[in-house]
Amino acid sequence: MKKIIIKGGKRLEGEIDLQGAKNSVLPISAATLLCSKKSTLHNCPNIADVDTSVRILTALGCDCKRENKSLTVDPSNVNGYEIPDNLMREMRSSVVFLGAVLGKFGKAVISSPGGCELGPRPIDLHLSALRKMGVTITEEHGLLYCEAKEGIKGTEIALGFPSVGATENIILAAVLGQGLTVIHNAAKEPEISDLADFLNSAGARIYGGGSDTVYIHGVKKLTSSEHSIIPDRIVAATYMSCAAVTGGSITLNGAMPSHITSVLSVFADSDCDVTVRGKSLRINAKKRLSRVPTIRSLVYPGFPTDAGPLIIAMLCKAKGTSVFVENIFENRFSFVDELKRLGAKIETQGKTAIIEGVENLSGASCKCTDLRGGAALITAGLCAKGETVIDQIHHIERGYDDIVGTLKLVGADIEYTE
Ligand code: EPZ
Repeated sequence: MKKIIIKGGKRLEGEIDLQGAKNSVLPISAATLLCSKKSTLHNCPNIADVDTSVRILTALGCDCKRENKSLTVDPSNVNGYEIPDNLMREMRSSVVFLGAVLGKFGKAVISSPGGCELGPRPIDLHLSALRKMGVTITEEHGLLYCEAKEGIKGTEIALGFPSVGATENIILAAVLGQGLTVIHNAAKEPEISDLADFLNSAGARIYGGGSDTVYIHGVKKLTSSEHSIIPDRIVAATYMSCAAVTGGSITLNGAMPSHITSVLSVFADSDCDVTVRGKSLRINAKKRLSRVPTIRSLVYPGFPTDAGPLIIAMLCKAKGTSVFVENIFENRFSFVDELKRLGAKIETQGKTAIIEGVENLSGASCKCTDLRGGAALITAGLCAKGETVIDQIHHIERGYDDIVGTLKLVGADIEYTE
């Protein structure tokens, strides 16, 4: 089993070209299904979740080609509306294909997320919205059978929570639907704007993407689009944490600083110098970071939950005690026990993590529990004394394009090992 091995203590210095956003390329690759001709996506990261999306598109009959950082999808022979069960299980976010397949065929079959709709990572908001759009949904033998017998009907939907996935699914189902669909309390993440931009460039009529009210006027047909995926704001936060925790200085090229203002202010609060020059982000960290009294994760444009683990890892060696309050996911702290194996002093009580800064972390063997938790272990390993060996790294490979090669380029002593 491949692992990552890090010899900590090296100061990171240099430049990194930022990868395209995982959470943008996933819904946009689903959106290519709705087009009538071949679309091309540029700045597409080379990550496992994109591989899974390509396998889903291929299983549905699309012709997909990857070339460097570009992905072309020709949907002209798409013929399936059943998303393979194994692929649904491989990637939770494949639920976003539900809206696209329904938008295309008026029917879809997906594996239920397990448990009732209120199970872990529930999709109750998705399903109740789709039902309002005329979709009947029945569950049998762990599969959800969805059908809009009279087509997708435009309607007004008020989301009880500004769910990113639910907002995306409603847009994808409505874009070829009948009439106007309005989403109130929509998610405002930049990935929603990117999805709307892709669809509009293929002939959709979506207004307000990225705001809390989105209007989708159904159209008869979409052509296709050549689109460049926005940069990954969580990967940006990751590499900034790696630089900060090693007292380093790195420049991120191809960034969108306006997408992470809430994260930049936390780096500034921990005494890092952050300078923005157009699409370049530069971070220069002092030897030892200052604590950040309280950070709360919120929906966009608040502090993003996905950057929480990275900031927590970064603050493990800060001067003083920091507090992180997680308001989005119940199980966001599953990585903390692994971080404590490196000597971190963190106490979690419900949705609150209290991080008491220590002088030193010491390398240890540990394992990833999830994507961002895994990245947090890398962040901590970079500044721990001695060697850190990280197992279960498939979690990290879901969302980071060559993180080992990238960190090596800026001076980290990091390798894969069997
Ligand atoms: C997206 O997940 C991202 N994934 C997540 O990134 C990110 O953490 C999350 O948005 C919040 O920003 C992708 O875009 C592929 P939500 P999503 O629906 O759509 C609850 C990463 O690390 N909820 O906004 O699943 C849900 O349980 C991933 O890249 C319901 O209760 O997020 C959670 O507590 C992790 N019912 C909260 O809302 C629903 O029907 C936020 O979920 C849907 C969600």
